[in-house]
Amino acid sequence: MKRMAIFASGTGSNFQAIVDAVQKGSLQATIALLICDKPEAPVVEKAKRANIPVFTFKPKEFASKAVFESLICKQLQDAKVDFIVLAGYMRLIGPTLLQAYPNKIINLHPSLLPAFPGKEAIKQAFQAGVKITGITIHYVDEGMDTGPIIAQEAVAIHDDDTLFDVERKIHQVEHIFYPQTLQKLCLTEYEEEFT
Ligand code: GAR
Repeated sequence: MKRMAIFASGTGSNFQAIVDAVQKGSLQATIALLICDKPEAPVVEKAKRANIPVFTFKPKEFASKAVFESLICKQLQDAKVDFIVLAGYMRLIGPTLLQAYPNKIINLHPSLLPAFPGKEAIKQAFQAGVKITGITIHYVDEGMDTGPIIAQEAVAIHDDDTLFDVERKIHQVEHIFYPQTLQKLCLTEYEEEFT
């Protein structure tokens, strides 16, 4: 089975959805490691409850991104990680990780890219007044939410929706669609790419 590392910075609801899918058997992969840049984030507790090894670090304690990403690479190699899944990891991936895991880093973004990249994408879409937004799953490149798109799912914004309503709908779709898409990748192209 392919071994993934999940990178996350916050609540970890998508992390939990992936853990649940693995436990149910609908996602056939092993979660080898959680990497978290915020030691106090709730996702850390979720990983501990699921008995998933955790590596936390504080970026400010390192001289540069290259230095902390080298340390992450060592953790990933020790855990024999095949691919990386970003689930609310709120940092740009740097050249060190991109070169170590080419085409093996996947991101979830809460908008229909290329619309609304960057932070607070759900709020950006809501404030822009669009009637359709959604989620995007894509390979990570050196840009901000710019890599090749793997899958997208639309979410309607109704006239009486609050920002909270839209956030709830987006998260519901993410929790179903991200594990499903990861499973498809594990079954198809990842089998080929990783062999
Ligand atoms: C998710 O909505 C994810 O799409 C978003 O962060 C949230 C994490 O929630 N990611 C980005 O905005 C990346 N640019 P979670 O911690 O509950 O999974």
